[in-house]
Amino acid sequence: MALLSAQNLTVSIENQIPNTPLPLSTPFLKNVSIDLRKDKITCLIGESGSGKTIFSKTIAALLPENVFIEQGDIFYKGKAIDYCTLKKSRGRLIFYSPQNAAASLNPVLKIKRQVNEWAKLDQTQLLDLFRDLEFQDPERVLNSYPFQLSGGENQRCLLAMAVAQQPELLILDEPTSAMDLHLQEEFMGLIKKVRQQFELTILLITHNLSLVRNAADYIYIILNGEIIEHGTPGDLLTSPGHAYTREIVNIHAALTPQPPAGQDLFEKALTEGEVPTPPKTFV
Ligand SMILES: Nc1ncnc2c1ncn2[C@@H]1O[C@H](COP(=O)(O)OP(=O)(O)O)[C@@H](O)[C@H]1O
Ligand SMILES: [Mg+2]
Repeated sequence: MALLSAQNLTVSIENQIPNTPLPLSTPFLKNVSIDLRKDKITCLIGESGSGKTIFSKTIAALLPENVFIEQGDIFYKGKAIDYCTLKKSRGRLIFYSPQNAAASLNPVLKIKRQVNEWAKLDQTQLLDLFRDLEFQDPERVLNSYPFQLSGGENQRCLLAMAVAQQPELLILDEPTSAMDLHLQEEFMGLIKKVRQQFELTILLITHNLSLVRNAADYIYIILNGEIIEHGTPGDLLTSPGHAYTREIVNIHAALTPQPPAGQDLFEKALTEGEVPTPPKTFV
């Protein structure tokens, strides 16, 4: 079942230049339908400027003043929910973790204070939470200001804040963009772990299909404000239908290490006894 579902959403910006032949509004999202299934990780993948953040801010009721829902509906557990109700349930129902984690943390408050601004955890609960989020040295992190931590640590602190509030839906907007490849892979593993441990439903936004192949339960591909294709990672990687999806699948293939040419044939022949097993040691 979908915890939250967007149906045929068109989200537009008002044209603020009076007396021009321009239309009254310009759409950023066109007829977007996305289901966020309960207890699953749903990924929204698209290039920069395709509308990923606008979509997440629509369902988190965080749209800028001049951007509005022109058409379509949002459903929460099967019932239509209006934008004002969504706004009131932010934090409790939905936690939005923005793209630039360091910028959204308060620079003059220690992490400990920031986590506890909404949640009220005692010292033991805080330490347990930070251990769950795989901080080697939770005490140091809790007593640090954001500028004393790396980009990856700040992103994990935001994840800790989100988890501490126990939202039903967690939106992570490009959480790994400031990390190197190794940290990105680690963070994906952590997202899977907290999803399960804290029974969260997650919307994960990224432009990297390769990165989410093992974490995503379901993927939507967005291009120029429209959903062009959706499916499981297996579906999309093995039989992409749209030219743009094929393009990002090819990027994925180029980034995945391939065995040397002919290795599969050699291994098959070896198991079938068609080539002699090479000696293990040479004297
Ligand atoms: N506050 C805003 N005012 C004007 N245009 C905006 C605003 N926010 C986003 N946009 C435009 O909306 C489109 C989608 O942006 P965005 O959702 O941020 O893309 P993405 O997150 O996929 O990179 C882009 O063309 C962007 O320039
Ligand atoms: Mg964005």
